[in-house]
Amino acid sequence: MKKVKIALLGVGNVGSGVWKILSTNQREIRKRSGYDIEVSKILVRDISKKRPLDIPEGILTTDINEIVNDPTIEIVVELMGGNEPAMEYMLSAMRNKKHVVTANKLLLATQGGELMQVAEEEGIMLYYEASVGGGIPVIHGINESLTANRIESIVGILNGTTNYILTKMSLDGMSFEDALKEAQEKGYAEADPTSDVEGFDAVYKLAILSSLAFGTKIDVDSIYREGISNLKSEDIEFAKEFGYTIKLIGIATEKDDVLQMRVHPAMIPNKHPLANVNDSYNAIFIRGNAIGDLMFIGRGAGELPTGSAVVGDIISILRNNVDLSSTIETKEINPCKTTSSMDETICEYYIRLWVNDRPGCLGEITTEFGKHNVSIASVRQKGERGSYVPLVFITHATPEGDLHKALEEIKKLEGISKIDNIIRLENF
Ligand SMILES: NC(=O)c1ccc[n+]([C@@H]2O[C@H](COP(=O)([O-])OP(=O)(O)OC[C@H]3O[C@@H](n4cnc5c(N)ncnc54)[C@H](OP(=O)(O)O)[C@@H]3O)[C@@H](O)[C@H]2O)c1
Repeated sequence: MKKVKIALLGVGNVGSGVWKILSTNQREIRKRSGYDIEVSKILVRDISKKRPLDIPEGILTTDINEIVNDPTIEIVVELMGGNEPAMEYMLSAMRNKKHVVTANKLLLATQGGELMQVAEEEGIMLYYEASVGGGIPVIHGINESLTANRIESIVGILNGTTNYILTKMSLDGMSFEDALKEAQEKGYAEADPTSDVEGFDAVYKLAILSSLAFGTKIDVDSIYREGISNLKSEDIEFAKEFGYTIKLIGIATEKDDVLQMRVHPAMIPNKHPLANVNDSYNAIFIRGNAIGDLMFIGRGAGELPTGSAVVGDIISILRNNVDLSSTIETKEINPCKTTSSMDETICEYYIRLWVNDRPGCLGEITTEFGKHNVSIASVRQKGERGSYVPLVFITHATPEGDLHKALEEIKKLEGISKIDNIIRLENF
């Protein structure tokens, strides 16, 4: 049996999963890869930290040079996260002719072009299946199995933390704040939840998927972003009344060579499979011109699911498969324009206003909508006449720019306290 030495940069959540899978599934991995894999070094910040793993002495190190300058180590697995020093260490490993596996969505989304360029220059493999959807083999799916298709759209529930929070709000009637607290207690959300709840994490993942699916370089700043922190229990309840479920989704669509990518909460019809993806599960719904509709669903995080994708990448390298990832972004096969403007986006909208329920108020609002060609499909009002009450409109499909012009005028009407929320309806 051939032997290969690898090194891990980090043995936190994902690194522990990788360590466990490599030992538990040793026999299967040997058979499938043709190699006996030895983890010869693991980079950590703090060697003295107590760890729940049985790692033999001499493997942990705080010195990256013991890894990048060791010619016997052939694969470096980056599981530290963050920008620096992860970027510097990966580049250094690649310059020293080591294949690299990473789960770092932040780096791939923001500096993936440079990583792929260096991988190409050095003739090494760079794999990153775990960076999107944890254990879900979506990158392999797009790069390999769907490669005969022109991808028309991708719609994904790309963040497990926000999906857990929204599930709790929807099924258990929790407030956003209580659901977030529970997610933090269960370890699904970080102490600082900004990256998840404000949609940044989903933006990084959508950027990685879009670059592969549409064969173009993506600037993460061109992706429109809204998080879920503005959602109220009322929105969840109204959505249910209209037959929808609210999810934080990432959408990428290409039309007439213009690629639009956006991350925001959306009302999904209850009959659509994405509406039924609950808890911390992720799902990615892809429409290709040959395959039609296809959905991947699975655990988007966690040590073993994410570790499964990482070890899968290591085995792919050992099998010396065709290069799955490194050539696609650097050689743009479909350089297309991207737009972050939402004005031309045509959707149906849910609008929740807070109004003083005086006679004639509803008529004045609908007149303003009419003046801007916004046609109303449905209206709901709750509360006592004569007081401030929530008033909800569902529009027919309309350009977002027209909707905002109408709302600017509606805000000026007497008795309109505020426009509390606007949510797009996505009827795929
Ligand atoms: N957690 C998930 O479910 C998940 C899912 C998909 C993708 N990812 C991605 O996987 C990566 C790792 O996530 P994680 O949750 O496993 O992180 P984590 O639990 O925080 O573990 C990070 C590990 O990296 C080490 N480390 C961090 N900075 C270091 C530095 N400057 N020098 C040396 N070692 C350093 C830490 O060392 P110490 O142990 O000494 O502190 C720790 O072992 C991230 O890119 C993340 O986005 C995670």
